[in-house]
Amino acid sequence: MENMSVSNKIKFVDFCAGIGAGRLGLENLGMECRGFSEIDKFSEYTYRRFFGNEEKNFGNLMKINSKDLPDFDLLIAGFPCQTFSVVGKRRGMEDKRGQIIYGLIKIMKEKNLI
Ligand SMILES: C[S@@+](CC[C@H](N)C(=O)[O-])C[C@H]1O[C@@H](n2cnc3c(N)ncnc32)[C@H](O)[C@@H]1O
Repeated sequence: MENMSVSNKIKFVDFCAGIGAGRLGLENLGMECRGFSEIDKFSEYTYRRFFGNEEKNFGNLMKINSKDLPDFDLLIAGFPCQTFSVVGKRRGMEDKRGQIIYGLIKIMKEKNLI
């Protein structure tokens, strides 16, 4: 038992991870990343150049089974904003990209975060 160490860091999962700018900020605050979710292979390639190859990419967050996710205290998600942007068509929730928030809410509920 004496060699066991349990991290008391705040743990997060990085959804819509992109190239990991959001993650960088949380890690600089002393938090611990427990995995990420990204669907674009070029983003993932760059992300792994920054953060290594060890972690699991949980893929499309709209298809994630929350039981497959590790436990975490908070999530970060810089989800696509084009559908809300004033320079776009502003279809909001009517655009598939705008509905990502519902996938995030589902995950947070299933992980008892809300
Ligand atoms: C605005 S960028 C995120 C930027 C990121 N926060 C960063 O710090 O680099 C949005 C990202 O969400 C990803 N994405 C879009 N739909 C997704 C989905 N269903 N599941 C996971 N990632 C998704 C896109 O591929 C894109 O890289």
